Amino acid sequence: MELSRFPRRKYTPYVTPIEPMNRLSQELGGSVNLFIKRDDQLGLTGGGNKTRKLEFAMADALLKGADTIITCGAVQSNHCRLTLSACIQENLKCILVLEERVPGSYHKDASGNNYLFQLLGAEQIVVVGLGEAPQKVQEMAAELREAQGRNVYCVPGGASNEIGALGYCACAAEIQNQIFEDTSLPRMDYLVTASGSGGTHAGLAAAMYALRSSIKVVGISTRHPEDVQTAHIHALADKTLKFATGDGTLDLPTEKVVVKDAYVGPGYSLPTEGMQEAVTLFARKEGILLDPVYTGKAAAGLIDLVRSNYFEPGSNVLFLHTGGAPSLYHYMPIDTNLPVAGATSKVANDSDEKKSD
Ligand SMILES: Cc1ncc(COP(=O)(O)O)c(C=O)c1O
Repeated sequence: MELSRFPRRKYTPYVTPIEPMNRLSQELGGSVNLFIKRDDQLGLTGGGNKTRKLEFAMADALLKGADTIITCGAVQSNHCRLTLSACIQENLKCILVLEERVPGSYHKDASGNNYLFQLLGAEQIVVVGLGEAPQKVQEMAAELREAQGRNVYCVPGGASNEIGALGYCACAAEIQNQIFEDTSLPRMDYLVTASGSGGTHAGLAAAMYALRSSIKVVGISTRHPEDVQTAHIHALADKTLKFATGDGTLDLPTEKVVVKDAYVGPGYSLPTEGMQEAVTLFARKEGILLDPVYTGKAAAGLIDLVRSNYFEPGSNVLFLHTGGAPSLYHYMPIDTNLPVAGATSKVANDSDEKKSD
């Protein structure tokens, strides 16, 4: 796998840290050692996994002479925020197509990522219904090309094609090298990640295989049932493997794609108790902010897999923090008063305050 063959822009001038989560490991019984890869600290506005994918997607766009980028995502899309941020750095115009996956969920004045779309200054924001975004992107691109002669480059949702997934091939190589270089880090047995539009999961699965790594990648679905997500990730990971290695005969074995779907709850972006517990536990045990839509549900999966002894005792388990915290401010309030193992504080209500005055 020679990633230097591909054009790349660089948006993070450092390697993201791998940190032990000793207090959380202890809290969950101490049978496994939990670590976290801090991709929430990647570059561009607010960080998160799309920054790695955009390094390759934007380089491709620039190579093709693009002056305008159109992309799409959910109404609180981290991907749209980061694409817009990359466009600002590259001096390109940026149009966002937002898909209302939950009816009535778009609010022009909402906070979180929606606020950042406005602050960062998208050229245009268009809102469409569930499943309509990819077609709308193509229609708008065709119109702009014809009417204004613009050179439009369409980045797929989540930058989840074989070009964007190269960002997570690069991350797999980074993790392998980081563990080699930092002798205080143990070998990892598992890598747990959110699995949404799929470029992150697919890039990691493809590259861990290409690199002959023994780290097992586990994807926690944030939207689709296991069979649908597994088929999607396998197809994208296989395509990415062939693209990244340049070896069209190399096939990704099906068992290299593992998806768990038990943590989606009632649907994409809708809260679950597990998510709320995970967000609260990460905050209170490690001081780390998760987001309610992706990393909160992925962490709920991580926590449940630890509690149900999915990982062999003594395993080293690396959780990928894919970012997304800006949306936490939109999805407030997380119910911090749910019974959370090990939580010592409770938000004081009015009468508590009066008592302590
Ligand atoms: C914070 C965050 N984590 C994880 C994901 C899922 O990554 P992917 O779309 O590559 O599956 C997303 C997707 O938007 C995200 O915003």
